[in-house]
Amino acid sequence: MSSLSSLDRRNATYVLPDRAITPASLADELLRFRTLYNVTSFPFRHDLYSSSLFQWRSLLELADRHPRDPAHLYCSRGRVSVDDRWSAHQELEVLPAEVLRSLCETDSLIMFKRLEEDHLFAPLIRSIQAEVIELTCGAMSDDIVVGRGTLLIASPGRITAYHVDADVNFLFQIHGAKTFSVTDSRQHAAVSHEELEQYFMGDLNAVRYDEDRRRRSTVYELDAGFGVHVPCLTPHWAQNHEAPSVALSINFDLRSMNSVRRIYRLNARLRSWGLKPQPPCASSWRDHAKLTALDVLSSHRFLRH
Ligand SMILES: [Fe+2]
Repeated sequence: MSSLSSLDRRNATYVLPDRAITPASLADELLRFRTLYNVTSFPFRHDLYSSSLFQWRSLLELADRHPRDPAHLYCSRGRVSVDDRWSAHQELEVLPAEVLRSLCETDSLIMFKRLEEDHLFAPLIRSIQAEVIELTCGAMSDDIVVGRGTLLIASPGRITAYHVDADVNFLFQIHGAKTFSVTDSRQHAAVSHEELEQYFMGDLNAVRYDEDRRRRSTVYELDAGFGVHVPCLTPHWAQNHEAPSVALSINFDLRSMNSVRRIYRLNARLRSWGLKPQPPCASSWRDHAKLTALDVLSSHRFLRH
């Protein structure tokens, strides 16, 4: 299977939804992986739609064998809006194959998580991960804690509500099409520190959608064969077009986010005591002092138990 790196071996002209791509501009596209990785969103192309693993029969077989605990499966059936929460219409006990068969009538989103544990999908997931890491030319490799694959299958017109993820993401649109909006964080104040404090305290929908963020978002029209990179903590939402959608999220937990997470959690507590804490990455010595204090506190806790 070739997915991303095959782009630089082709010499045809490719057509994105809004423009023709020549081999020369293909080089620019590959350059984005090196220069924009985890800085801002960017589009890319792939050929995963040609894999038989994503054909309907294969997806139904996956639905029958995939574990159904919350760590492996998420399902929401019913209409949601852009500012809804992950819990909206969530169903904890579903028959995944039945969800797939009724997809066109039920306004559903079903996610098969940890696809890297599936014996049929694992080789493909590893291959894509390796290609992504290679394309970023070393920017990722020392920073990765763990990589995952999540398959997202959704009904025509289905909305995925506005949210951020702490991991870094490469989303591959494989079948169907969607409109994908990203509020890039290098634009001014995409997300407030208070929202991120609440996010890291466990409120996965702490970052809220509003008109200002809508206006400042970059909108990608993703047909099958296109993808988009979403940096850590960058808000996004999506709406499918008129056909069922199959998309693959290749995401990585990063070592560099661990300290950010710990400091935001500490800051949430400091703010609840009436203080105005400095956000992570604003001052390296403050970050170091906070992380040292957290290390001391956690070792004391460990010694007490
Ligand atoms: Fe996401």
